[in-house]
This record gives sequence, C-alpha cells and structure tokens, in this order.
Amino acid sequence: MSIELATNYLGLQLKHPFIPGASPLVDNLDTVKQLEDAGAAAIVMRSLFEEQIEMDWRGVDSLMLSHEESSAEAISYFPRAEEFALTPDRYLEHIASIRAAVDVPVIASLNGVTPGGWVSLAESMQQAGADALELNIYQLPADTEVSGSEIEDTVVRILDTMLGRITIPVAVKLSPFYSSLPNFAKRLAASGASGLVLFNRFYQPDINIEDLEVSPLLHLSDSSELLVRLRWMAILESIPNLDFSLSGGVHTGSDAVKALMSGSTTVQMVSCLLKNGPAHLKKIITEVREWMTEHEYNSVEELRGCMSYRKCPDPGGYERANYLRVLQTWRVS
Ligand SMILES: Cc1cc2nc3c(=O)[nH]c(=O)nc-3n(C[C@H](O)[C@H](O)[C@H](O)COP(=O)(O)O)c2cc1C
Repeated sequence: MSIELATNYLGLQLKHPFIPGASPLVDNLDTVKQLEDAGAAAIVMRSLFEEQIEMDWRGVDSLMLSHEESSAEAISYFPRAEEFALTPDRYLEHIASIRAAVDVPVIASLNGVTPGGWVSLAESMQQAGADALELNIYQLPADTEVSGSEIEDTVVRILDTMLGRITIPVAVKLSPFYSSLPNFAKRLAASGASGLVLFNRFYQPDINIEDLEVSPLLHLSDSSELLVRLRWMAILESIPNLDFSLSGGVHTGSDAVKALMSGSTTVQMVSCLLKNGPAHLKKIITEVREWMTEHEYNSVEELRGCMSYRKCPDPGGYERANYLRVLQTWRVS
C-alpha cells in the first residue's frame, strides 16, 4: 500500500513533513547533502542574530544601544563577532550555496527581539534564494516595567516590518511563555505569519556554587520535551490560516507520529540528528511509514490532528482537568 505523505507547509510543497531544524548541521554543504540523501523535506538554516548584524554594521557599541536595559557585564557576555559561525555576508552566500546544492526548499532564520534595522536582512535572504524564513523570537523578559502586551506588540511590529520587505512566507518560532498563547497565535496569523514553530528550547544556565558563576549549558533534548509541545500544538492547531511545525523532543518514529496526531504540519528534528547523524532522519521516516501501514493510515492528512484538542475523544486531558486528575489520583505507596 502506498502512503501519501506529501505536505503543504507555508505554501511550500514538501514530499513529507520531516525536516532537520535550525542547527549547525547545515553549516557544512556535505552534511546538507547527507540530510537531503536521508530524505530531508526541506533545509532549515541556523539563525542569523540581531546582535551579530548590528555589531557587523555598527561595531560592538551598537550592542549597548540595542540592549540599553542590560548591564555592562551582560554585554561583555555576548560572543565576539569572530565567534559567530557565519558573518552576515557568509550567511547570505551560504543560502545561495545550499539553494544550488539541493532540490528541496531552503528556510533561512533571523533571530532577534527589538524592532530595528537588522530585520532588513530578510530582504537579502530572499534575494539570496531562501524559500521561506523563520523569525525566531527568543525573548527573556527581565524588566519589571515591560508588560506582556508590550512584548507581544513588539513581536507583531518586527513581523510587520519583515513582511513589508519580502514576499516569501514567514513562520514565527516562539517559546511557550506567553500568557495567552492562543490569542497571541491568532494575532500573529492576522498580522500575516504563515506559520508558527513550537517551541524554542531554552538553554537554562546553571549556578556554579564554588566559583559563583552562572554557567551556560546546552544539553541535547530527549523525548520528554515533546510533551509540552504536544499539548500546545493540540490546542493551537485549529487557529485558521496558520501552519504549525513542531520543534523539540522528537527522537523516534513514535514521537513523530504523536507530533502529527497533535496537529503539526511539519516536524523538525535537531538533537536526534546531532546525536545519531543525518541518516537518523531516514530511520524516523521509515518508522513513521511502517507505523502508518500497520495502523492502516493511507495519508498523513488522516493522521494529522486526530488527537488535537478539537478532535480527540477526551479534550479534558489537555486541560486543567488533567492537572486535577493526576494530583488527586496519586497514591502514596
Ligand atoms: C547546537 C544547537 C544550535 C541551535 N541553533 C539554532 C539557531 O541558530 N536557530 C534556531 O532557531 N534554533 C536553533 N537551535 C534550536 C533547534 O532548532 C530546536 O528548536 C531545538 O534544538 C529543539 O529541537 P530538538 O529537541 O530536536 O533538538 C539550535 C539547537 C542546537 C542543539
């Protein structure tokens, strides 16, 4: 039995929903080719950062201006220009190189939090050959004077400026930490976002109790990180005019099936590919196909959203009711 996996994401026609997410994996063209050989339906590039662009244009002092609220120590913590993997110019060249090397869509990524000139790089990314963009909003609000609605207004302004400069589609990559994600997601759709990527993964720093230092930490995800995404995907997927991409905690074919069942249009993977190499993508795609055959699903459309909040037999499982149930039915052994 042939299974139909073809998927339309952000207006791009993909052969299936499985994509390597933004990471250093695609910095190298050989690895990009390996990912395409392993079946990647699209290539998502790592981000180019607001701070990096401003530093490149105006020097290190521009960081002070764009992060006025931050301390001098915080500014000194930023990577130096030469520590970024790709300069803005190299990034644009790399888009063109990937575009020439592969037959699948290329999604570039801009990452920032303040409305500013850096957003104009989106236009150069489109000219360099990007088929779509991810706008990554990785925000850590630490200012007691800034309200949630101001933060959301800023994101909408950034998106609006970006969309004014380009004609390719934009997906916004968010964290789960907004007070009303459904309302904010609807607002982003109304402002012209074609999709949302759920979610950014926060790299929680640790405290070194001997040296009194805050230590940056990056450990790769495991499947437990999928759960927060499944819940929000299931709740948000019904918002009209938005495609959703799940990013975070997909390591196996079953994880990918769950992501689709919750309602995601595409499924992104990074940690499992960094751990196991690009060929792991093929393994996951094969596992999904096998699972669908065994369970008699003919197409990805049949699977998509069947366990969303709207369609699942027991939506209470996604709500406060689930919280009450798990706490109240716990028995001390
Ligand atoms: C080393 C590394 C670098 C990453 N760089 C980026 C980046 O530049 N832009 C971005 O949007 N996400 C970046 N991510 C986040 C991933 O795209 C992804 O959202 C996250 O790792 C969760 O997916 P996973 O559980 O499959 O790893 C990076 C992740 C890792 C591990």
